[in-house]
Amino acid sequence: MIPRHIAVIMDGNGRWAKKRLLPRIAGHRAGMKRMISLTDDIFSRGIVCCTLFALSTENLARPQEELEGLYGLFREYFTGQTARLKSQGVSLKILGDLTLLPADIARLARTSEEETAGGEKTLAIALGYGGRQDIVRACNEAVKKGEPVTLESFAETLSTGGMPALDLLIRTGKEKRISNFLLFEAAYAELCFSEKLFPDFTGKDLTHALEAYAKRDRRFGRI
Ligand code: IPE
Ligand code: IPE
Ligand code: MG
Repeated sequence: MIPRHIAVIMDGNGRWAKKRLLPRIAGHRAGMKRMISLTDDIFSRGIVCCTLFALSTENLARPQEELEGLYGLFREYFTGQTARLKSQGVSLKILGDLTLLPADIARLARTSEEETAGGEKTLAIALGYGGRQDIVRACNEAVKKGEPVTLESFAETLSTGGMPALDLLIRTGKEKRISNFLLFEAAYAELCFSEKLFPDFTGKDLTHALEAYAKRDRRFGRI
């Protein structure tokens, strides 16, 4: 079985750079390059929805110099990749609170979303995203409406609303934790932890993760 929705916690850029005695931003640049090729690989295998964790709310507490470097890469990404995504039938969707980022990045991101709208595939990039924050935001929306929520209506209010259920969550970079990523959505996702630092995570590693996924017995609580 091929997952419909796969998510990747792209971790390990800093350690990749450190191993090479390079500045952390060189690791992030290598990570961005890998993210572009990995996205192509993911969609070429028939997966229709992919969510990538690029920057958490907690990452915003990193030194300004590193954040500026990351912001520069995000600008490059939106400017350079939008037309390509559109030509591949991929709609871009940003998860997270863009008001936490410089205003020009929010504008570039919204423009990319608008320009790629209507594609049959979805690439969601989590930027300034926190799973707990997204749940609290959705709760506040429900409170404002003044109506009790159901599982379905609540899921629709999350920033992943409308996307297929999460099937497979991959984390690269050796750590075995979720780090405030898709907390609600990961309820029945299969988890896969890779020892590879993100810039080293290849199409072959994706193949291994997909093969492992295909062998899992997803019971969803049943027998
Ligand atoms: C992931 O790599 C990318 C971001 C969080 C922006 P890290 O920067 O966390 O890399 P490590 O974990 O320090 O190696
Ligand atoms: C998770 O990685 C966030 C992203 C990959 C964007 P972190 O490096 O922030 O996670 P921790 O600090 O190891 O939990
Ligand atoms: Mg990390």
